[in-house]
Order: sequence, then structure tokens, then C-alpha cells
Amino acid sequence: MEVVPLAGAQQVATLAADVVEGVVRRRPDAVLGLATGSTPLPTYAELIRRHRDGTGPGYGRVRCFNLDEYVGLPAGHPESYRATIARELTDALGIPASRVHGPDPSPDRLATAGERYEAALQEAGGVDVQILGIGTDGHLAFNEPGSSLASLTRIKTLTEQTREDNARFFGSVEEVPQHVLTQGLGTILRARHLLLIATGEGKAEALAAAVEGPLSASCPASVLQLHPHVTVLADDGAAKLLARRDHYREVYDAKPAWQGL
Ligand code: GLP
Repeated sequence: MEVVPLAGAQQVATLAADVVEGVVRRRPDAVLGLATGSTPLPTYAELIRRHRDGTGPGYGRVRCFNLDEYVGLPAGHPESYRATIARELTDALGIPASRVHGPDPSPDRLATAGERYEAALQEAGGVDVQILGIGTDGHLAFNEPGSSLASLTRIKTLTEQTREDNARFFGSVEEVPQHVLTQGLGTILRARHLLLIATGEGKAEALAAAVEGPLSASCPASVLQLHPHVTVLADDGAAKLLARRDHYREVYDAKPAWQGL
């Protein structure tokens, strides 16, 4: 795992955008794994800015897979993750909705939604780079504490804390759905490169547990320790409780130029 402590959220966004663009330049039909939440928004804004400047790569052949989706929202609801990703990223990059996939929350097809999504991911050849945020309780996607470290896409029930954290996107906590469909931790581990971004002090405890704590279902993001290619980009606030923070920075500063992230 490579941890890169950075001064602020904009530095995180710049480097994260570099990683995503690097993947698309190397492989124009890359499969991008997309996350929602507030953390990736500056990264998405940076990718859009570069695309509009004409300095970004071509996204014409890229395919995208979202990490998760709420269950129980009316189709087209602005806070559905399908609508959020289109609004915050893919529409502006010119990636048509037909190339952006998400778990299917249709009520009559819920029982098979997980296996259908796993099949679609497999058919696409897997995810080249998966953008990830981290929940304040250590969740990845919507895998709450206690999730199997080998889990695949399935329906889950949100914790009260996550519903409270996400209430800001809705009118109130009561309006945050209780159920979701989420890629499992085992699904996430299949992506070829995991790019976790964390900003703000509110994430410091969860990030320290994920990176330096024991591997445990009690901290779902600790599953990253099992993956061969993980990059963690963290700003000062989020990196605050990392015991080896100075060493991570030394390692990054001493990296050979050819190595990349
Ligand atoms: C959400 C999402 C996660 C996200 C996390 C943190 O509920 N399902 O993919 O990483 O919680 O969100 P934020 O970046 O807004 O703190």
C-alpha cells in the first residue's frame, strides 16, 4: 500500500485526477470504478476542468461502474447514485449513460441485482482503477462494519451513523433510504488498482484504523491491506493520526520518477 500525505484537498484532487487520466491514456477503453460522497467531488471537478481545457484524455471508449446505489428511491431521484455520477462527472466528460453502470435497484428485480452486477463487471473485464472514499465508521462503498471481507454485490442495511452522515444530501435523516445495493469488499478487491482518497479531520480515525490497524471486518476499509496495488491520497487532516505519516512522505519524496503511482 502506498500512502501519500498531501497538504490539502486540492493536491489530493490533482494527484487523483493524474492517476485516472494516466489509466485512460494507457488504455482508452479503460473501466473506471466511481464513488459518490463529497470526497471525490474536487477530483471530478479537476477531471472536468482538464477535459474542457482540452488537456485531458479522450473518454469516448471508457466504461464506468458505480460502487453502490440506494434502494427505494423513485427512478431518477437526484440523490440516486446513478443521477449523482451523471451530474458530477460522466455527463461533463461526454460519457453516455449507456456506458455508466450501477447496481439495479428496481424493486421487482432486487433478488438478482447482486449477481447481475457481478456478471456485468466480469463481462467488462473488471475495473482498472477504483476510486474509493471512506466512511467515518470505516465503511467502503456501503460495506458497513461487520461486512464479510470476501463479500460480493448484495443488499445491505445502513447504520444509523451513515444515514446521519448522508442526511445532508436529503432533507432529513428519515429521508435517507435504509437499504442499499453495494459492491462487496471481495468485489472491490478484484479491481486492478484501488485509489482511496480521504480529506478532512473527520476521516482521521477511520483512515488510521484502515491503514495501520488490524485487518478486521470491524473496519471494512482495512481490507485494502490485502490488495497488491493500493494508493491512499490523504490531506493533512485525514492523515493526522497515521503513526507512520512522516515515513510515508519520505517514501513518496524519494520515489524514482519512472515509478508512478
Ligand atoms: C458514502 C458512500 C461511500 C463514501 C462514503 C464517504 O455513503 N457510499 O462510497 O466513500 O460514504 O462519503 P464522503 O466522501 O461524503 O465523506
